[in-house]
Amino acid sequence: PRNEFVTELMGKMTIDEKIAQLVQYTADGTITGPKSGDNFVAEIKKGNVGSILNATNVKYTREIQELNLKNSRLKIPLLFGYDVIHGYKTIFPITLGETASWDLEAAKLSSQVAAAEAAASGVHWTFAPMVDISRDPRWGRVSEGAGEDTYLGSKMAFARVKGFQGDNLYDINTILACTKHFAAYGAAEAGRDYNTVDMSERVLRETYLPPFKATVDAGVATFMTSFNEIAGVPSTGNKFLVNGILKGEWDFKGFVVTDYTGINEMVPHGYAKDDAHAGELALTAGVDMDMVGGVFLKHTKKSLAEGKVTEEQINDACRRILEAKYDLGLFEDPYRYNDEKREASTIYRKEHLDAALKVANKSMVLLKNNNSVLPLRKEQKVAFVGPLVSDEANIIGSWAAVGDRTGYAVSVEEGVKKLITDKSKVSFAKGVEIKDTKKDLMKAALDNARNADVIVAVMGEFENQTGEAASQTDINLPGIQKEFLAELKKLGKPVVLVLLNGRPLTLNWENENMDAILEAWFPGTMGGDAIAQTLYGVNNPGGKLPMTFPRSVGQVPIYYNHKNTGRPYLGAKDAEQKYKSRYTDSDNSPLFAFGYGLSYTKFDYSNLKISSKTLNANGTVKVSVDVANTGNYDGEEVVQLYIKDVVGSVTRPVRELKGFNKILLKKGEKKTVTFDITATDLKFYTLDMKFAAEPGDFEVFVGGSSNAELTEKFVLVN
Ligand code: IFM
Repeated sequence: PRNEFVTELMGKMTIDEKIAQLVQYTADGTITGPKSGDNFVAEIKKGNVGSILNATNVKYTREIQELNLKNSRLKIPLLFGYDVIHGYKTIFPITLGETASWDLEAAKLSSQVAAAEAAASGVHWTFAPMVDISRDPRWGRVSEGAGEDTYLGSKMAFARVKGFQGDNLYDINTILACTKHFAAYGAAEAGRDYNTVDMSERVLRETYLPPFKATVDAGVATFMTSFNEIAGVPSTGNKFLVNGILKGEWDFKGFVVTDYTGINEMVPHGYAKDDAHAGELALTAGVDMDMVGGVFLKHTKKSLAEGKVTEEQINDACRRILEAKYDLGLFEDPYRYNDEKREASTIYRKEHLDAALKVANKSMVLLKNNNSVLPLRKEQKVAFVGPLVSDEANIIGSWAAVGDRTGYAVSVEEGVKKLITDKSKVSFAKGVEIKDTKKDLMKAALDNARNADVIVAVMGEFENQTGEAASQTDINLPGIQKEFLAELKKLGKPVVLVLLNGRPLTLNWENENMDAILEAWFPGTMGGDAIAQTLYGVNNPGGKLPMTFPRSVGQVPIYYNHKNTGRPYLGAKDAEQKYKSRYTDSDNSPLFAFGYGLSYTKFDYSNLKISSKTLNANGTVKVSVDVANTGNYDGEEVVQLYIKDVVGSVTRPVRELKGFNKILLKKGEKKTVTFDITATDLKFYTLDMKFAAEPGDFEVFVGGSSNAELTEKFVLVN
């Protein structure tokens, strides 16, 4: 029926009406940069628009839809798209933080809640998940993605699409997802946003593309091209990527939208001579919708008359967009998502807030905990200090849709006060600001801290310090926060540092001088509760880093699955140190490795076993390990499996994540965790670019981080 419906409708459409479907306008006058027109209302009245960006809430989207339907000859509904990245009203941890949970159910749940709230509020389409692998914390957008690892990123990407879209887009609690940014946007040179990307096709396919493919497998409805070029070709005009890989090899049936003015930007890229030319390149590459750039609207009809694009290309794009509208049920009822009562009863629903708390608790990563200073005890006198201690506005993080920064958002102070009702046991004072270097607040905070048993400093980045256009060359704790920590340390009390931030930071001094460090990311609406519950042991942190934390920005890009080189440096004990692949002023190793994270309890790994020393092409080997909780708390542990392909027709990484299993172990409990390895897990792009597994030796590592030490071997035989 969808096919027949759309075919019949398109049979009645003029070329102008078809092109209009390819046009998205923004309803947000505050966004800078070139826009598709002076007035989206006027364009809607002319029937020139297929989709609207940045309009939210039932009332407003209804008004716009009414205006559209009044003017649309064939009554084709508008599609409303919005960046629902880590929540709509109820805000979850930033995506990087959520990924630290290594919990696929958690990722699915947060996307489900986000979709339910957005859909109840008139939004049909989110521009998420962002699945860009990045190995560079200078890039501000690492906060929006799943970090550095292809395997983890692919699993998360799949879960997030399932969460947003459910099993059926007709279900009014779901919305269209959009996989972005296609492709390799996270590999921008020097971590500078929008910068050039260049890499071999092997690295592109092996490291950067799999999370995109995972979302196609999950049935994602739309894709967004990226701002960057790859090997000289901007993604928005990249035929090899869009028509070749995405719509060709992967047989993607949904539609592709540009990232904002990505079409127009091919002119400054030096790839198109003018906008008209850029539009032709984009349509020919396989782009279906022009986000606010206005190029398709202004030029495509003329390009068609000049034979620069074909009617088939326009028809194909139009069909894909109409199909998405059909799947949402918009032709049946354009106001299906416009019920004010449903909106009011859906946003900030108790279950949503509970889910946000649960996911925030799961995203906490304990980086250090000397002398078990954490968890805090209720009877201790604790001085909470730092610029983010009472802050509601930053806690939800950047790109938090229409999430409220006051009212619903729980600050650390509020969270602590809910748990510790004896006011004499806790005090709160800022001490310093994040950006400001003024020291006038410091004395009061130090006075509080002086009288405490333990000091907890809540510090980090301001919310917009990460996100789009937020690249940095310095990834230290900003401002004079470190100076303040040094003053606190002088008091001779244990100091716990709680971090709210969107990227890996360089924390050498903090690691040497603080007693405990809790990485809380930007934890969302319920963040203050989650932090308080974690500090006081109501929640035992079980998160693991989804990105390497370097010792210095000079080590960047840094990632665990690097190559060995011909001169690997073996560490301080290496007798011949000079002519090795190393720095003379720094260790090669990161400060905190990918996959690392502590718990209040202790996990012991033992008894690594492999079911067979040989693996046949169609066989399976089982790797099992015993994990015992030998500490004093129940806790969750992410058991990680890494594999090294010892010799290949092209060199292979020192190890790669190939499986993980998150388990809950009660105090004193022991479990055996088993992983299956098949030849499929060993595939890579061989010298002749075949995706295949090569017979030979493999090493297996299992443990609680990418430094996992227990090891076994097997041989893949033909
Ligand atoms: O979805 C975003 C994208 O990630 C960056 N540019 C703007 C788009 C729409 O807001």
